Amino acid sequence: MQILYTTNDVRTHVAKAKKAGKLIGFVPTMGYLHRGHISLVEESKRHTGYQVMSIFVNRIQFNDANDFNNYPKDLERDFDLARDAGVDLVFVPDEKEMYRNNLTFVDVDVLTKNLCGAHRPGHFRGVFTVVSKLFNIVQPDAAVFGQKDIQQAVSIEKMTADLDFPVRIILAPTVREEDGLAMSSRNKHLNPDERIRALAISRALRKAEEMLSSDERSAAAITAEMTRIIEESSPTKIDYISIVRYGDLDFIDTISEKSVIAAAVFYGATRLIDNMIVETDAGGARCVY
Ligand code: PAF
Repeated sequence: MQILYTTNDVRTHVAKAKKAGKLIGFVPTMGYLHRGHISLVEESKRHTGYQVMSIFVNRIQFNDANDFNNYPKDLERDFDLARDAGVDLVFVPDEKEMYRNNLTFVDVDVLTKNLCGAHRPGHFRGVFTVVSKLFNIVQPDAAVFGQKDIQQAVSIEKMTADLDFPVRIILAPTVREEDGLAMSSRNKHLNPDERIRALAISRALRKAEEMLSSDERSAAAITAEMTRIIEESSPTKIDYISIVRYGDLDFIDTISEKSVIAAAVFYGATRLIDNMIVETDAGGARCVY
């Protein structure tokens, strides 16, 4: 596995792989890898023959300096996990390599006004800017993003189409701990009590699934029940429990088309997100979470 630090080196290695006829798969990360990241690499391997991963904690997508400063890091462990997963090239730029007096930013309208976009000003602009730069550096054929960050994935799909990046965006399912907690690098910050209370989020999603399978389609009824379950776990703060249309991530009253049920909840200082994609038709509702 190549570990590279500069744009030039990455371009040279990727060009060689392309010349050898390989399709390039790309998994951008901020490191502190867990099984969720590895599943993105596995998904990428199903579609492409040369795997690139980036590890870069992107300061400009953090709207909270403490969150950035406390973001967990363990590069050596990341390299081992990436190597074992079959990654061919890891790109580990530093801030100077990525941002040299950057005056250009990328943003996606509409899709970022609700959910996390409403609570983390500037976050998505930072994400889209770094992902655009990484797409230009790596020039992948396909890039894989996790369902857990659904607003990020849907918006990047739109950005890729709008800006004509020749990259296929692949959405991979959320990977969970055995007890249902969605995997996240941030889970490390939960103390044992918060870790148990945080299970209320996946419990609330399961309850939503149950309600949908009993033909409940009212967004208000489902969010009320989810709120009740999450409030019982004494969260520090609920940022949102929302139901939106998949296509434009706008709020809906009735679930009658492809939708997303999403939540963002703090336990202590740790903000956790999770979601479920719902598709309905005459045969009922199918939920992926
Ligand atoms: O999902 C993440 O880890 C980050 O937002 C990403 C896509 C690597 C951009 O920094």
